[in-house]
Amino acid sequence: MQPLVVANWKMNTGISDASVLATMVRNQLHEFNGVDVVLCPPFIWLQEVASILEISDPRIKLGAQNCYPEKDGPFTGEISVSMLQELCSYIIVGHSERREHFGENNEFINEKVHACLRYNLTPILCVGEKQKSENSQKKILKDLIECLEGVTKDELAKIVVAYEPVWSISTATQGDIASGEYANEVCELIKKEVGKETPVLYGGSVTSLTVDNYISQKSIDGVLIGGSSLNANNFVGICKKARGE
Ligand code: PGA
Repeated sequence: MQPLVVANWKMNTGISDASVLATMVRNQLHEFNGVDVVLCPPFIWLQEVASILEISDPRIKLGAQNCYPEKDGPFTGEISVSMLQELCSYIIVGHSERREHFGENNEFINEKVHACLRYNLTPILCVGEKQKSENSQKKILKDLIECLEGVTKDELAKIVVAYEPVWSISTATQGDIASGEYANEVCELIKKEVGKETPVLYGGSVTSLTVDNYISQKSIDGVLIGGSSLNANNFVGICKKARGE
């Protein structure tokens, strides 16, 4: 399986930062082989980034950071999967920041997974424990199973799972970071549940200096990058390492 590197820009970038970042990534990854790349800018810049990527290598895809599972209707401020279908190939669902700040639960995330599949978009389903404990793995599996309720075996191959231990997110300079071995152990468990066709990513404070620790692991098929995706050189460095440079 070709490694997958996903950039989650979160609620960052103005219009000019977004254009410059997307252009720099595009130019540096032009005709780049051996790794699939997905950029997930804020909703409001999707169109702009789409127009920048259009002429580039089709291996750089566009993703959204969120979606609403209904098709259309009175949901002020929300963006549906059918709207995103025009622009995106991937949608991040169940990110821990949405669970924490917007009260999203497994049932709602499950609706989003089904909505993505209905419109042929690949959900990048995030799971991960808040704190490291003896029960972490049980909790992760429970979340995974609930978020995937009703998903068929065939559909599992159209999903990406990202394991993101919450305690390891955005802590590159101050906190605890999951080791490659630790992340691999959980990703292996996830793979046993979802099957080997489903790519399993690791996310949490990955940089160009640490990406090797994860990408070299047997059960990790790629990485989900937050902070380090906001600097084109760092992000391109991660993509290059992911393909073994
Ligand atoms: P980080 O974010 O790389 O800044 O830790 C990862 C994520 O939250 O997806």
